[in-house]
Amino acid sequence: MEHTKDKVVIITGASSGIGEATAKLLAQKGAKVVLAARREERLQAIVNEIKQEGWEAAYYKADVVSSEDMQKLAQFALKQYGRIDVLVNNAGVMPVSRLNELRIAEWDQMIDVNIKGVLYGIAAVLPIMREQQTGHIINISSVAGHEVNQTSAVYSATKFAVRAISEGLRKEESPSSHIRSTIIAPGITETELLNTVNSPEVIAMASHFSGLAISPYSIARAIAYAINEPEDTGVNEIVIRPTAQP
Ligand SMILES: NC(=O)c1ccc[n+]([C@@H]2O[C@H](COP(=O)([O-])OP(=O)(O)OC[C@H]3O[C@@H](n4cnc5c(N)ncnc54)[C@H](OP(=O)(O)O)[C@@H]3O)[C@@H](O)[C@H]2O)c1
Repeated sequence: MEHTKDKVVIITGASSGIGEATAKLLAQKGAKVVLAARREERLQAIVNEIKQEGWEAAYYKADVVSSEDMQKLAQFALKQYGRIDVLVNNAGVMPVSRLNELRIAEWDQMIDVNIKGVLYGIAAVLPIMREQQTGHIINISSVAGHEVNQTSAVYSATKFAVRAISEGLRKEESPSSHIRSTIIAPGITETELLNTVNSPEVIAMASHFSGLAISPYSIARAIAYAINEPEDTGVNEIVIRPTAQP
């Protein structure tokens, strides 16, 4: 059965990487995708590409650390398509480093984007989904949301938090059975995420692992699977990583 066609799906962080791949894949499956991020020219180009292939897409420039932007994004999707079926809270940054480097501004940035951004997304769509009596919130965590390494303390903390928030949402909403909650936990994936790293130690280490990276479409296919399951089936967590990732 095909359950994705005509669903209205908002995707944050859709200007590159996993978000871009997810927008393109879902559009090909007949979803109406609303792409959000800060780099407007990238969003415009991706939406043009999707539309040229005959699919439906729109974009809205939004910074996930602004609760106001996220509210406006939800209102834009409603105005454009009349409903919101799915929010993919995908925007994220990963300026990892050891705690003793004291990169406090980067800790703040990760907490703001990776945790508060997810919460502001939920705040923007949850009342609408409750009113509709249907909805699906997909939050992108990470393998780093399951395990901590020597440079991932703060990043992992944010991705553990994403899993806690997703599971809390699932438990809160399960009695009404209207709103589904999914955690997607990718491993090393070929995207622009490493551009957010500034620690020389991590930049040097990253070159050892970058050869392992899998396509962002591997992650997009997992997101598409969770969306396409019937309404009575909650796909609650999927971990996807390179076969060779230690
Ligand atoms: N790549 C991996 O190996 C990997 C592994 C595990 C988990 N993840 C997670 O996957 C998600 C997507 O990352 P990616 O790997 O696809 O990296 P990416 O290519 O760097 O994409 C990150 C996206 O987030 C957006 N973004 C960053 N800050 C934002 C903000 N303040 N407001 C709105 N959008 C913002 C960026 O767009 P703008 O700059 O245009 O705003 C971009 O579209 C992240 O949550 C990341 O933590 C990635």
